[in-house]
Amino acid sequence: MSSDNVTQFPADFVWGAATASFQIEGAAHEGGRGESIWDRFCATPGKVRNGDTGEVACDFYHRYPEDVELMQELGIDAFRFSIAWPRILPDGRGRVNEEGLDFYDRLVDELLERGIRPFATLYHWDLPQALEDLGGWPNRDIVDAFGEYTEIVAGRLGDRVEHWLTLNEPRVAAWLGYLQGTHAPGRTSRADALAASHHLLLAHGRAVEILRRAVPAATVGIALDLHPFHPASSSDGDREAATWLDGFEHRWFLDPIFRGEYPADVLTRLDGDAPPVHDGDLESISAPIDFLGVNNYSRQVVAAGPDGSPREGARDPEASYTDMGWEVYPDGLFELLVRLRDEYAPPSIYITENGAAFTDVRGHDGSVRDPERVAFFEAYIDAVGRAVAEGVPVHGYFVWSLLDNFEWTWGYGKRFGIVYVDYPTLERVPKGSFYWYRDLIAAQRRDRPPVSVSPASTRR
Ligand code: FCB
Repeated sequence: MSSDNVTQFPADFVWGAATASFQIEGAAHEGGRGESIWDRFCATPGKVRNGDTGEVACDFYHRYPEDVELMQELGIDAFRFSIAWPRILPDGRGRVNEEGLDFYDRLVDELLERGIRPFATLYHWDLPQALEDLGGWPNRDIVDAFGEYTEIVAGRLGDRVEHWLTLNEPRVAAWLGYLQGTHAPGRTSRADALAASHHLLLAHGRAVEILRRAVPAATVGIALDLHPFHPASSSDGDREAATWLDGFEHRWFLDPIFRGEYPADVLTRLDGDAPPVHDGDLESISAPIDFLGVNNYSRQVVAAGPDGSPREGARDPEASYTDMGWEVYPDGLFELLVRLRDEYAPPSIYITENGAAFTDVRGHDGSVRDPERVAFFEAYIDAVGRAVAEGVPVHGYFVWSLLDNFEWTWGYGKRFGIVYVDYPTLERVPKGSFYWYRDLIAAQRRDRPPVSVSPASTRR
């Protein structure tokens, strides 16, 4: 499939690849890193498939120079990575681990030297276990702890990193971590989950304020997981169920950030479990951001259960599904982007994650062909192009993910990378989609001047 099929994007459009610390770094006991809730969760029998852990992962902690070289070969403008809080503050607060800061310092320099802009996420789910032991996200004290952590990281990297994401997918951190218990720390209380969501949003607001002060050139955003909820039928029940889910999963996060209020229809369903909101909280949460990060993979078809509550609708026999069981539905990304523009008017949008897991295997010649992933990217990037043509201010796109990696409860069983990782040897094998993406970026660039990295990006 040719990358020339993709529409021409604006000259300053940012092409990138995304990752997250726990999913790729490994070196769990090196460099002074403390324990994270995901280390503890992985060590708890039955929580993660196959007993997989983040102990080694892709060994990015040691192999990052080789991986940055691959990024350069790929030709990306930007690399999205996250910072592991337990590497910086092994006990969550207090003692700063310089070795942890040094690691991200070297990574940032390596990226800038190769003309790649760093997009740093402060929190991609690896909370220091020491903070979970104090109550985790449901305990309001965590907002101060996150502020201290942000201050330290911004102080060290802010002279070279301009693009910051405060949180990755607070919905997943709160709902899967504290309500469903399927992600670390594995708790199951609705009141705790709602308190966690509020404190995550407050931590976001705090970090925005700190980054603005500490990094005058900062461009700050947050990455939310967003996808259309489509009613399984036109019945009132299915439509209401879809609205209900949209409230809990989207508007619960979008409304406080962009409008400074929680959605009334969700609040009325919470009974006594509404989170403790103090005076000034919503002002802090709604501090203006520079961009919204959109993580999108699929859509969800929603039917009403007997009590009206939402549940997954029937699968479309005509549709194709990825190895995660997620429907390939590129029009959903277009629909979502137009909706975000119309309802929330973010000043700018980056697609901070988009990609697909398929059961990749190495051929006899050692190569990995992944035409389904290429077709997926082609269709989704086309949807982004259509949104741009409609005037939605999308300024960049990051594939999830650069490397096959630790896919949370699925362990290493799900491969999202455009680079195959042979886990026994840690060898990297660029897949067909890597070369396709490389050619797409090159074709997009043919008519544009090279993107310059930040003016502050000289090596210290
Ligand atoms: C997102 C996560 C990311 C990865 C992808 C597949 O929800 O942010 O870490 O697991 O899904």
